[in-house]
Amino acid sequence: MRTIGVRTALHAEGAAAQPDAPRKPDAVCFVPRVMTRAPILAISGSLRTSSVNSAALRAAAASAAADGIAIAIDGDSVRLLPPFDSDLEAERPPLVAAFDAACLAAPGLLISVPEYAHGIPGAFKNALDWTVGSGSLYAKPVGVLDVAPPGRGGYVRQALDHVFAAMQSDVVRYAVPIAAADRDAGGEIVGAAALASLADAVRDFAARTGLHVAA
Ligand SMILES: Cc1cc2nc3c(=O)[nH]c(=O)nc-3n(C[C@H](O)[C@H](O)[C@H](O)COP(=O)(O)O)c2cc1C
Repeated sequence: MRTIGVRTALHAEGAAAQPDAPRKPDAVCFVPRVMTRAPILAISGSLRTSSVNSAALRAAAASAAADGIAIAIDGDSVRLLPPFDSDLEAERPPLVAAFDAACLAAPGLLISVPEYAHGIPGAFKNALDWTVGSGSLYAKPVGVLDVAPPGRGGYVRQALDHVFAAMQSDVVRYAVPIAAADRDAGGEIVGAAALASLADAVRDFAARTGLHVAA
């Protein structure tokens, strides 16, 4: 079992829950957090049904499952979270609280995000904004699948780097370009080289999160 320190408002609540811990709701504090067996959380930055980013995460999750690595795909939060409003942080909407709790519990976040207008899709950035106050992605391993073809996606890579640097997440990126020829008629990824790259990526990422990966 691994423990990791995190500093957030949520963790201040955690400290208060301990019998002898002083109650410091507004203080930044540092409390050991026991890593659980929660799955890696996978989130696509695209809402499109035929999204290549979502397909890459589905293929990654399937490959991981074959290796005994649990990846849970959150296909709802990015679409359903309300627009970020710091006025709501004191009493967060249930969807926000659930999303944030899932981020906090996950040993790592695996994401795949398209580039829109040289930036991060707004709905995805909105989801990230909701985690800032609690710090649920602080020091969190974040694996970024770069599925854009060579020469594309440079701006969103840079933008994601800036955002995760601000949140002090622990980012690792994987270049796994997916071509149209790598997908079947339903949009699922079937290209052998692409699937092998995704499998390598999830194995490496799972190991970085501290999960045991079967040989
Ligand atoms: C509104 C919009 C803006 C886009 N802007 C860019 C861009 O600035 N740079 C780029 O490389 N691709 C851009 N694209 C292409 C998408 O990144 C590309 O189609 C990607 O595969 C979409 O991801 P998805 O298939 O997961 O939905 C844009 C697409 C749309 C719909």
